[in-house]
Order: sequence, then structure tokens, then C-alpha cells
Amino acid sequence: MVGFAVVGLGMGRGRAKLVTQTEGARLVCVCDLHEELAREVGEELSCDWTTSLDDTLARDDVDAVLVMTPSGLHAKIGVQVARAGKHVVTTKPMDVSTAACDELIAAAKSTDVLLGIDYQSRYVDTNFRVATALQQGIFGRPLLGEVRFKWFRSNEYFEHGGGWRGTWAMDGGGSLANQGSHLIDLLLWFMGDPTQVYGDASIMNHDIETEDVGLAILKFGNGARGVIVGTTTFPTNAYFSAEVHGTEGGILIDAALDGTARYFGDDLEQKLAAIDNPIHNIVEDLVAAVTQGTQLRVDGAEGRRTVALLETIYASSKAQTALALGAAS
Ligand SMILES: NC(=O)c1ccc[n+]([C@@H]2O[C@H](COP(=O)([O-])OP(=O)(O)OC[C@H]3O[C@@H](n4cnc5c(N)ncnc54)[C@H](O)[C@@H]3O)[C@@H](O)[C@H]2O)c1
Repeated sequence: MVGFAVVGLGMGRGRAKLVTQTEGARLVCVCDLHEELAREVGEELSCDWTTSLDDTLARDDVDAVLVMTPSGLHAKIGVQVARAGKHVVTTKPMDVSTAACDELIAAAKSTDVLLGIDYQSRYVDTNFRVATALQQGIFGRPLLGEVRFKWFRSNEYFEHGGGWRGTWAMDGGGSLANQGSHLIDLLLWFMGDPTQVYGDASIMNHDIETEDVGLAILKFGNGARGVIVGTTTFPTNAYFSAEVHGTEGGILIDAALDGTARYFGDDLEQKLAAIDNPIHNIVEDLVAAVTQGTQLRVDGAEGRRTVALLETIYASSKAQTALALGAAS
């Protein structure tokens, strides 16, 4: 059994429950600065609870820690976790800057622990099949990848939890860095890294530091293009989609978090259905990596890619010109 602790119990509460439901995993302890919340979750899930990260990391029965705190704390806490000799998983995005990601990658390497980033859309069957099919050439030569999300977020959403959302220091950006990072990760998985990035993250609506509407056009080395369109100002949560087409076929994944899709191309749906997705969530993934030595689906280097693209989009938007990927770092 791999012993897990979960730090940060907003969305981390659901991940703690997932640990209890996963074979080979044992939920040892939950930790949150809010004592009442930590106690409530500990009692609900029949595990120990604490407000102290140090106490969590001192435990011999904790092998892996899920860091589910606001984004700007992921690397800081992750480095402490790695130095305590525990495997580290952060929720998305990995952190708010590539500098912070690099510190975490270095810490995990120096203590020889696993480092994973929890992008749940990577475990969705359809998305795994598309990524694999693209690698196998089933779509032919990729021409265009698009991700679009039209969501609504209220003022209360940005005020909740002490107001960390929509700040550069803790959220790393606005709609692109927070909600959009799931889809940016998917786009990079499907299409590879772009060579050139034009970003526009200048449209604001809520009273926050960062963008409400984020746009980017990407050029890939093979000549393909990418488009990112995202907003938290739509009248309602409308869609969260990814689309890719090549010379031999295309797919529109209407709902990238559950994999509902439309297929365009001869037998494309059947060809994709033949691809088996062996792992279904981050907890399963980490248990397999620890017990069988398998590769984590999103390790530190993979997780850093989204943060590097976000940095370049924001720098391009500020400079009002296209930039090479990484020019901002
Ligand atoms: N994968 C997803 O679908 C998904 C969904 C929502 C949020 N997220 C990510 O999860 C992270 C947290 O978002 P949230 O919505 O749960 O935020 P939240 O504000 O609701 O919860 C964060 C929790 O972390 C706790 N916390 C903060 N600092 C801490 C510390 N040093 N030690 C222990 N606990 C600490 C807070 O008390 C709070 O309970 C963000 O990085 C966000 O991007 C991912």
C-alpha cells in the first residue's frame, strides 16, 4: 500500500476521497490551515488530520503527498515534501512560473522522489486515444489544434478563499492559467510545443489583476497552427472543448473533461476505440509508478510545458508581438 497525505482541502477534498477509493492506496492524513475543515474531512474519510505540514511530512507512513493548495504555493510546499523524501503530486498548474517549476523539479531529482502533476483530462479515454492516435499518424499530418472554453465565474468565486484567484502571485494569470491550463496541457500533448506564440490577454471584466478573456495563436515547427480561446465571462458554463484535425481526419472533443466527442473521418471512431487507456486518475498513476516503476503521465517536465507557454502568452500580450516559446523566461 502507498500511504498518501493530501495538503489543501478545497478541491483536494475530492482527491482525498479518490485515494480512499483507489486500490493500492491508503489515505493516511489530510492537512489544511483551516482546522475545522481538516477535522471535518479527516472524520468523513476516517483518516488522521492536522493543520501542520511539518507533522504531515514527519510521518513514516506517508509515502506521497498531494499538494492541492493555491497554485503559487505548489512548488514551495512541493520542495518541502521532496526534501522530506516523499513523492510529490501538485494539482494544476504546476506553479505560477517556470522558475518555481524548475526549483521543484531540481528538488525532486536531488532526493530521487517522483514528481507528478494532476491534469485529470490526461486520463480521460478519448483524450488519451487522440494523443496516441496523433503519435501513430492516424490523423495524418496534424494541421490545426484548437482549444476553447466559455465559462462563467462570479465575483464571489474570485473573493472565495481569501481572494487568491485572479492574482498573478497565486493564480499565475486569469482564465488561461486557471481554467484554461487543463486545455493548454491537452493542446501541447496533442500538438507538441509551438515555436512561435502570439498572445492577447488584455480583456478584463471582473475586478481582478488578470485576464477574463485570453487568446493565443501558435505556430508549430511542422507548420501546423494552434488556437486558444478562453473566458470566464460567458453568461453560463457553456463548453470546454478541444479540436484537432490532420490530413486524414479530425475530432471535436466537446467536453474535454469527460471525453464526449464527434469524429470526422473514415472509421476514425473505431480506430480510436481500439486504443486502450491503462490508467484512469493520478492516484492510480502514482501507485503504479511506485509499485511497478511505470512512467507518470504528467511528470515535472511535462507539467512545466504549460507554465512555459502561459508565460510566453502573457509576455507576448504585453509586448503586443509574437514571441518564441520561452522568450519570457
Ligand atoms: N483539477 C481541477 O479540476 C481543479 C479544480 C479546482 C482547482 N484546482 C487547483 O487546485 C488548487 C486549489 O484550488 P481550490 O479551488 O481548491 O482552492 P481553495 O481556496 O478552495 O482551497 C485551497 C485550500 O488550501 C488550503 N491551504 C492554503 N495554504 C495552505 C498551506 N500552506 N497548508 C495547508 N493548507 C493550505 C486553504 O486553507 C484551502 O482550504 C489550485 O492550484 C487550483 O488551480 C484544480
